[in-house]
Amino acid sequence: MSKRANFAHPILDVIADRWSPYGYDPRPVPTTDLKSLFEAARWSASAFNEQPWRYLVATCDDEKNFSALLSCLVDANQGWAQHASALVMTVASLNYDLNGEPNGTALHDIGLAAATLTTEATSRGLMVHQMAGILPDQARELFGIPVGFEAVTALAIGFAADPTTLPDELRETDTAPRQRRPLAETVFTGAWGQAADLVR
Ligand SMILES: Cc1cc2nc3c(=O)[nH]c(=O)nc-3n(C[C@H](O)[C@H](O)[C@H](O)COP(=O)(O)O)c2cc1C
Repeated sequence: MSKRANFAHPILDVIADRWSPYGYDPRPVPTTDLKSLFEAARWSASAFNEQPWRYLVATCDDEKNFSALLSCLVDANQGWAQHASALVMTVASLNYDLNGEPNGTALHDIGLAAATLTTEATSRGLMVHQMAGILPDQARELFGIPVGFEAVTALAIGFAADPTTLPDELRETDTAPRQRRPLAETVFTGAWGQAADLVR
């Protein structure tokens, strides 16, 4: 199904067509697509080209790893994300390889790489639902995430379900209109809160 953004100014299709589904079709994601998603993330920009991103991945056919990764999500996310075709935990390297100092933009770069991965996914008809609701300590313990690295978010990847096949609650969420704050409340000039003319 489509939940195309109701944009005020023209944007790329891959941006307009991205959204975060709760209902997933049981179809597995082709391995070739998954490879390309990580390859896209690999070519994301990062401060000093540190590439602070690492990923833990599990596909639904790999029951042991999939259920381990699923157990690193908060209960509310486990409820729907269990139906995704693949789960990914994003993990940040917190310090620069360069000099061991804290990398103040590691989280920014993790988010940027997630956006790049997601854009590649959208171009392939795949959906990515990002999650902050994770259990980083559980992920550290189960997967041996070393000191200096921290789980940041999880990604549920797959094909969006036909909403008519979903239980009421999920169908309502997945068919609800998408909302955004207007640009005039977001892009300022001159002083905080003063909408830039170009977005008025
Ligand atoms: C960093 C991040 C964390 C998020 N965490 C969760 C989460 O834990 N659970 C959830 O259901 N959705 C989560 N979301 C999805 C957002 O709720 C969703 O992106 C937002 O409502 C906008 O909807 P859209 O992505 O369909 O445009 C998260 C999104 C991002 C980018």
